Amino acid sequence: MKDKNEELRQKRKANHVGGGIARIEKHHEQGKLTARERISLLLDENTFHEIGAFVEQRSTAFDLDKSVFPGDGVVTGFGKIHGRLVYVFSQDFTVLGGSLSESHSAKICRIMDLALKNGAPIIGLNDSGGARIQEGVVSLSGYSEIFFRNTRASGVVPQFSMIMGPCAGGAVYSPALTDFVFMVEDTSYMFVTGPNVVKTVTHESVSSEDLGGAKTHAEKSGVNHFTAQNDVEAIKKLRRLITYVPQNAYEEPPKTTTFSFSEKQSSSIERILPENNTMPYDCRQIINLLVDQDSFLEVQEDYAKNIVVGFGRLEGRSIGIVSNQPAELAGVLDINASRKGARFVRFCDSFNIPILVLEDVPGFLPGTDQEWNGIISHGAKLIYAFAEATVPRITVITRKAYGGAYCVMNSKSLGADLSYAWPTAEIAVMGARGAAEIIFKKEIRDAQNPTEKWLEKEAEYAEVFANPYRAAERGIVDDVILPSETRQVLIKGFEMLEKKAENLPLKKHGNIPL
Ligand code: HXC
Repeated sequence: MKDKNEELRQKRKANHVGGGIARIEKHHEQGKLTARERISLLLDENTFHEIGAFVEQRSTAFDLDKSVFPGDGVVTGFGKIHGRLVYVFSQDFTVLGGSLSESHSAKICRIMDLALKNGAPIIGLNDSGGARIQEGVVSLSGYSEIFFRNTRASGVVPQFSMIMGPCAGGAVYSPALTDFVFMVEDTSYMFVTGPNVVKTVTHESVSSEDLGGAKTHAEKSGVNHFTAQNDVEAIKKLRRLITYVPQNAYEEPPKTTTFSFSEKQSSSIERILPENNTMPYDCRQIINLLVDQDSFLEVQEDYAKNIVVGFGRLEGRSIGIVSNQPAELAGVLDINASRKGARFVRFCDSFNIPILVLEDVPGFLPGTDQEWNGIISHGAKLIYAFAEATVPRITVITRKAYGGAYCVMNSKSLGADLSYAWPTAEIAVMGARGAAEIIFKKEIRDAQNPTEKWLEKEAEYAEVFANPYRAAERGIVDDVILPSETRQVLIKGFEMLEKKAENLPLKKHGNIPL
């Protein structure tokens, strides 16, 4: 008995060295933590329970059976974050480059199945060279098994992907199917085909970093939602993000009981908007003054900066925030902003997180680039996402709300539960200058001084529409409120909507313009 217990202890010890001490040292030299070190940091102390530690790969091709690594390059199991259950897999790059074999995939699928049955988030710590090349098609099939589960779990349990090493080939598609992707600067890459293949096929010379590093995916593709300087920071960020989301689609997000807010926040909000309505300002100033102190967590902050999305709290309750950003491209909506906004809205709606929209939008970005690349379908995504969302939705129009962009940004007729406007709001089909030019074209052309006439007509149009009262008269906004009242109005509004129940017409699924 004693010997058998000792045998188990020895086997466990062996499991913990993955691909061997030399490879672990090399891994550490690159500034990376091992698969197990990452899990220890991610989970609350002593909460990790491993599953499948003795699973081995089964292939005999290319001498794979000559050196067998227990666990087959991935550590899987469950544990807790802030006392809440999560399922986790962590790929071990020291074992055949974290490559995905049939058994490696089966271990991941096992914990995904458990997560789905038990309604808890799935966290993948990815560090993998892709499909295990020696195994051939069974490893490819292993990827498909994971993709299938990612898709089935989508909208049921939150899924998070940490990219902590090279992720090539199939290794990128599972993260892309999850809700949030974190990347570590300098040590992580994501690409479908690496620089060598790119060189052969397209004759482009590009570094791994430029092709698929954290910065590239944060700024250019939008695949990366959160960038971290190292593994430790990435894990800390994930531990924070998870506090805003519920365990699954059938539960409410956790509520914090301690929060702070100073009255000074409410009064200083009056000073954010510039006197001149064409001047930019940073909408994050407004967000930070509305939500509980230090509670705003921005998502995709380096991508499509003309729209800001992120989580915050109002008296401890999670909300998702979507705001036009006048400091970037005057806050116009374009293809990337529409995609970014739509995906975030759908996440919030999937997981019962109420949505606040702060609107200051002059319109859609014009031009051939936008039209030829499909702003029509991409803009429609944002319309679809808002119109489909059944979570409580409140819009506050702070300044401009023009044209189609007004409609898109969670307008009342698109189903917003409550719609407010600040006294500075301008709600019209277009800006006064452009409007005057079109509807008074003849009068301006025939005037003795056309410029003077144009200015006069512009002022006339602005007098009628550059305010919130025409919309309020029609009930298109529910009330005109002072900036300093806004936080309290939102708290009361979301409280009133807490038990909102709305069902979509029965259907298999809608057909969002992809
Ligand atoms: C088997 C692999 C492997 C793989 C790496 N290794 N990738 N073994 N299958 N896919 C092994 C290496 O042989 C090496 O073993 C160890 O892992 C470390 O790899 P190195 O190359 O020494 O490390 P590094 O220099 O850091 O480079 C890492 C890397 C590179 C960039 C990931 O290994 C690489 O390019 N790998 C192949 C990536 C790739 O093309 N994958 C696509 C697979 S196809 P030893 O024993 O020497 O330590 C795919 C399609 C799925 O995934 C499609 C689904 C839609």
